[in-house]
Order: sequence, then structure tokens, then C-alpha cells
Amino acid sequence: MPIIQWKEIFSVNISKIDSQHKKIIDLINELHDKMKEGKGKEKESLSQILNELAVYTANHFKTEEELFYKYKYPNTEAHILEHKKLVDKVLQIKADFESGKVVLTLDVMDFLKDWLSNHISGTDKAYTAFLNAKGVN
Ligand SMILES: [Fe+2]
Ligand SMILES: [Fe+2]
Repeated sequence: MPIIQWKEIFSVNISKIDSQHKKIIDLINELHDKMKEGKGKEKESLSQILNELAVYTANHFKTEEELFYKYKYPNTEAHILEHKKLVDKVLQIKADFESGKVVLTLDVMDFLKDWLSNHISGTDKAYTAFLNAKGVN
């Protein structure tokens, strides 16, 4: 069972962004599956997915931020700050995991799942009307 599933409520009505969000959801589910298989302590395969998640998410944020700058989205600064906090947190999880400080637990997975769904269904969806009105969809 995936820990998080794509729902219509996540759609920001911009197809490129929706597919990037779906890919992030896939990576979180992949991490969750590996963890549940009892591989929570297996460094290599997990840290590979964590790395992919960190890199892909950072690139996704860049895609959004470029649209904000291009169309002068009013809430750019606050949105970017939220991205920065999320990236820092994922990098922290990755570093703690790699240094052996923590193992991946359901708490970590819940945290990732929650920030993703909250960010998409709140902060991200807030730009839909603005960007759609600029012809981005
Ligand atoms: Fe996003
Ligand atoms: Fe965002």
C-alpha cells in the first residue's frame, strides 16, 4: 500500500507541475516500501532514493520559482522560504541517516508525506488562479 496517493485535490491545474508532484509522490512511496521491507537500516538503497528525492524536489521547486519570477507572483518570497525549509529538512534527514544518527522510521515517512500534501494542497494550489490567468496551464 502506498503511503500517499495522488488525488484530484492535489492538482494545481498546470500539467508540468502536476507530473512533477506525481513523481515526488512516487519517490516517497518507493522510500516507504523499501523501509517497510525491513530495509530501514540498509544504507545504500535508501540513501540513493533519499538523494533522488532531494535532487528531484529541489529541481521541482526551481521550476515553480522560475514561473513566480517570470510572472511576478505576489507571494513569491513566502513560497520560496517554505521551499527552502523543506529542502533543508530533507537534506537533514539524509545527513542524519547517512551518518547513522537515525534509521528511517514511520515518523520520518509521515513527516515527508505530511509536508508534501500540505505544501501542495495549500501553498502550491494558491498559485493556480494567478498562473492560469497568465496562460500557464
Ligand atoms: Fe510544488
Ligand atoms: Fe511549492
